[in-house]
Amino acid sequence: MNYRRIEEMSMNQKSGSEKLWGGRFAGATAASVEAFTASIHYDSRLYKYDIAGSRAHATMLTSHGLLSRDELEAILGGLAAIEAEIGAGTFAFRQELEDIHMNIEKSLVERIGAAGARLHSARSRNDQVALDLRLYLRDECDRLLELLDGVRRAFVVLARKYQGKVMPGYTHMQRAQPVLISHHLLAYYEMFGRDRERLLDCRKRINIMPLGAAALAGTGLPIDRQEVADLLGFAAITANSMDTTGDRDFAIEFVSCCTLIQLHLSRLSEELVIWSTQEFSFVVMDDRFCTGSSIMPQKKNPDIPELIRGKTGRVVGSLMSLCTLVKGLPLTYNRDLQEDKEPVFDAVDTVSASLAITAELLANIALNTGRMEEATRTGFMTATDLADYLVLKNVPFREAHGIVGRVVAFCIEQGCELVDLSMADMVRFSPAIGEDVFEVLTVSGSVNSRISAGGTATQRVEEALDLAEHTMGIKE
Ligand code: ARG
Repeated sequence: MNYRRIEEMSMNQKSGSEKLWGGRFAGATAASVEAFTASIHYDSRLYKYDIAGSRAHATMLTSHGLLSRDELEAILGGLAAIEAEIGAGTFAFRQELEDIHMNIEKSLVERIGAAGARLHSARSRNDQVALDLRLYLRDECDRLLELLDGVRRAFVVLARKYQGKVMPGYTHMQRAQPVLISHHLLAYYEMFGRDRERLLDCRKRINIMPLGAAALAGTGLPIDRQEVADLLGFAAITANSMDTTGDRDFAIEFVSCCTLIQLHLSRLSEELVIWSTQEFSFVVMDDRFCTGSSIMPQKKNPDIPELIRGKTGRVVGSLMSLCTLVKGLPLTYNRDLQEDKEPVFDAVDTVSASLAITAELLANIALNTGRMEEATRTGFMTATDLADYLVLKNVPFREAHGIVGRVVAFCIEQGCELVDLSMADMVRFSPAIGEDVFEVLTVSGSVNSRISAGGTATQRVEEALDLAEHTMGIKE
């Protein structure tokens, strides 16, 4: 045992400094500075990852003779006790120890003495915090992927339930062309599918091991970074120690994935809010997912989608915070980077909660298919079909567009819909129109004519639905 080291440690304490970096300081830190620089009130959330990283680091130091077996045992025992205490809420965090890394290390030294003081060999908080954040985000990626799957599955279930039913498709919020409800629902399945791909891709760049970069330049101590990577399940080690300590791309990329998820949730929410108005009445949300008004007894408000839409600002804000945080930073680590955690945590919490509640909400909504079908019957929604019909009768599309425009104007004048016109009315606009036009003007004829790949014809949507059910494991 190195008694000189223990003596030094106690001298350090005698001089009044509790700090692990206190050696070169003569006086104590001002209380205001301790309060201002501390991050323990939020980075304590990383404790499991900090401890997992320390375990792997200590194990590697032992294989290279930098710690004895006994010291490793003591460290692992101490870390386990600390982990249990933090988990149980009985660990006393100290603000003067700034962050999670020093709170744990200091407590370890207090528990096991000199062995604890050797743990930080070949390591700096700069690579340690990068490690913690990468481990944390890797887990959060996996959790978000599961939550995303929950939402995607809910869309597929709904699409199956309403397969074959029609609704108006909108552009500019104006009735445009009739579509299948399941086609509309599966559009969201696609969006959240891309979000999944993005997260998986982002995870690849998160899953790279930073430890061993030390403060910024690497270390002269005989370590094996690959061994730590293997112990922690990383796919590779980072290539440049300076990049490693200054890099937060992976966190920014992660939050931009979160932003797109939240934007998609927000667009969905907007539709649900509109659909639940009396004017639309396309959707009925379960009472358990709505709230009332304190003054208007008749109200049933769609608060969940409204809040999801509202929370989107937080996630976009987190992304902006992180981008602004790194924009002016020279290499390598700068204390500014401590400000990365709160936006990351807030984005994770907001997106997780929004995804979870959306899956639940979708499992409890009922679409008013009668109302949706009724809405396809007005608004001249089969006008494009009439134009396409003329194209098939060899009328150039631009000319056909003009003809149908005049037909629509005539209908507006008459106060009727396209299907209400007689054959005699029709041929006045174009001699190319024959009796077969009426099938084209029906909603189901219109929908089922759109057989282009990715189109809304029942046959195409059935194929898409089939594939989605297989992908989500709903169907064998
Ligand atoms: N709490 C710090 C952070 O989150 C850890 C790294 C501090 N390093 C330093 N040399 N002060 O960024």
